[in-house]
Amino acid sequence: MSSNHLQRVLDPQEQDAFDQAGEPQADPEDEQNALLRMESAESEQAAAAAAEALHLKQAAQGKVRIGSAVRASVLANAAEPAYAQFVRDELDSVTTENELKWDAVEPAQGTFTYGAADTIVDFGQANQLDVRGHTLVWHNALPDWVKAYDVPGEANRLALNAILEQHIRTVVGHYAGRVKVWDVVNEPLADDGTRRSNSMWQRRLGDDYIANSFRWAHEADPGAKLYLNEYGIEMDSAKARSLYELVRGLRALGVPIDGVGFQTHQMLGAERLSGLSNVMRQFADLGLDVAITELDVRIPGVPATGEQLAQQATAFATAVKACLSVPRCVSITTWGFTDKYSWMTNNPDPKYAGWGEATLLDASYVKKPAYNAMLATLATTERPSSVNADLVGAWRLDDWSATTASDASGLDHAATVTGGLGAEGRTPSGSAFRGDGASTGAETASAVVATNASYTVSAWVRLDSKSADQVIVSQDGSTVSAFTLGYGKTKDRWVFSIPVADSTGASVQSVESKSAPVVGEWAHLTAVWNNGWGRMQIYVNGSWNNTFPAASENRGATWASAGRLRIGRSMSGKAFSGAISDVRVYRHAASAGESAGYADPSVGRWQLNGSLADASWFFRDGSVRNDAAATWTVGQGNTTVGALRVSASDYIDIRGTQLLYTERSYTVSALVKLTAAGQSNQIILVQDGNGQYAFVLKYRASDSKWAFGLPASSANSSTYLEIASTSVAQTNWVNLTAVWDGVTRLPKLYVDGILEATGTATTSWPSSPTGSMHLGTSSSSKFDGALDRVQVFQRALTAAEVGALA
Ligand code: XIL
Repeated sequence: MSSNHLQRVLDPQEQDAFDQAGEPQADPEDEQNALLRMESAESEQAAAAAAEALHLKQAAQGKVRIGSAVRASVLANAAEPAYAQFVRDELDSVTTENELKWDAVEPAQGTFTYGAADTIVDFGQANQLDVRGHTLVWHNALPDWVKAYDVPGEANRLALNAILEQHIRTVVGHYAGRVKVWDVVNEPLADDGTRRSNSMWQRRLGDDYIANSFRWAHEADPGAKLYLNEYGIEMDSAKARSLYELVRGLRALGVPIDGVGFQTHQMLGAERLSGLSNVMRQFADLGLDVAITELDVRIPGVPATGEQLAQQATAFATAVKACLSVPRCVSITTWGFTDKYSWMTNNPDPKYAGWGEATLLDASYVKKPAYNAMLATLATTERPSSVNADLVGAWRLDDWSATTASDASGLDHAATVTGGLGAEGRTPSGSAFRGDGASTGAETASAVVATNASYTVSAWVRLDSKSADQVIVSQDGSTVSAFTLGYGKTKDRWVFSIPVADSTGASVQSVESKSAPVVGEWAHLTAVWNNGWGRMQIYVNGSWNNTFPAASENRGATWASAGRLRIGRSMSGKAFSGAISDVRVYRHAASAGESAGYADPSVGRWQLNGSLADASWFFRDGSVRNDAAATWTVGQGNTTVGALRVSASDYIDIRGTQLLYTERSYTVSALVKLTAAGQSNQIILVQDGNGQYAFVLKYRASDSKWAFGLPASSANSSTYLEIASTSVAQTNWVNLTAVWDGVTRLPKLYVDGILEATGTATTSWPSSPTGSMHLGTSSSSKFDGALDRVQVFQRALTAAEVGALA
């Protein structure tokens, strides 16, 4: 075991030794894949009975949309009723397999032939099916008249650009409101991730054709969902990463792209599905929907054996599971559903010779194991929906017991505590783990995190000292910790580190925050290990702070650890000096949005929609003084109980004693509506000190402005530092947010997200332990009006965060 593990992490020379060489040795998710196979076999049995009577769309209901590519000629063929019957019974959506490709829909310039596509669109409409339009811009299926423009020259470029624009506007416009989703651009990349050189669009129009196509399609039907569709991006690969950069660039430019389609054509024996959920998550993280758009699994050497059909079933189930595990994966479409009409049946292209039987039903419409596996997987797999999806450990660390910290994840990984719970928590009424920097720690009995797969660790922490390296969370391997999240003294940064092997001499890869921690301030940290990308990320207070490796193609090794998870301690005996609260562990790589959710900084949130309840983790409900009933009024959203009505007779206390440490950074925010600009001051929110408010947010009568005040001491006679808005208070809804930054000691006042006043540095002081918080009133100056969405934070929010509140 390394006794100086963190020291080594922090040594820059050591980090350079990290092996940055290319591809991983083995697919680290193979094991997971094997597990999936087992699980799907089990659930198949378990679900068999339940699922027997179901159709795919019923099993998928409320989870995901199920579709297939269809052929108009077969759909319309009265001699083939089983085909249309399957579509009606089983599916939520249909994709035009060939009918909307360029050669079908505009075979001669300006001549648009919609007949075949209409067959599918009309069928969809008649049977309440979504229609996916496939596809507007592709290097294949082009008629000769278009290919004639595949020549150099500026005049030709302009002409071709106009042809593309007209094609997209005309076709999308024709089906506006009827085709719900468009594969706008199909297969723009070559297998190595470069722009496809055998595409005449790329060759003649350059990179711009992609962004332009989306813009034209969006203008022609602003209601349609617009996708970029690609194959061979199901695994982490140069192509997947390159597409990611392409799409990220489009998003950054504001190009109207809604989703990325993963074609997911698979070859049995060489399936590329184990990293699918991981790659999908990356794209979803850009704020996009993702979908499986052309799923099939072709079998070599047909006719298939029973064993091959069983393997094919597993592949379908694995793909379905991957989609269901990603909240933004919205649909699963197969590329045909019967081997009778599949592009892989007798495909004349020599590269597909001998391959076939790629779909769910055989050529006689008999359900294959693949169909049953898909049905069972849909029926039995739960979708993650909340921020707590995949939570495998959660220690709030405010237990009353000093020796055991309970696990709120439901998985019973209680942690035995050495030293103490009972440190100051994030609010004066909460408590936390207290680390002395030497002998303290908490440990589970067994491993919590599968460290050879993706995971996320998050925690609230407050450092007492920077005099040594410190550990917040770690998990034991056999000789070294498999990961540590902590503080690195030499660099003065938060550090997340992973040794590349379970041995004391192994080099360590690590990612550090860009900013230095502040002693005495609570901070939220999220550390993400993304196994598919081989990427580590660290978030501070919910914002992305750094990624390792910076170069997208570097990747690190991982290994499974089976030891204890430790809080405030590492295997080598490093400890933590300060407080730790709310440690949570998830078995997936959190997206940026999820990380922001974990870091919710509010310590009190009152929506005031007919209730005084606190919607934060801290359960500090309000109550009306003298137990009078609260009265409600129209809120900003116009519902009659949408806001709290306060007037001279009301007196709302926040339950319990003081809520904020007012000597530390904090933010208070409220949506307020004044009845009238009155003669006297009107109080919106205060926390009491001894003879003085610790802060006050109010309407100031002398000049009809909003004001935020902090007295310079707790003595009753002391002078206030009061900052006031530039705008004059009106009688419409306005968001007021007051921030006091305990580091710079500057107060700020925002009105509707705009910074209207800053003060000079001042000293805030601890309010009395018995002082409480009041809404809408103090003892003397009542607020006459309505209050909505009151929030308090034990942190100085950034201008952007304040903007998001307003
Ligand atoms: C295929 C069709 O299934 C065939 O009928 C046609 O002959 C060629 O095209 N990726 C795509 C689809 O995006 O458009 C292709 O469809 C299959 C591969």
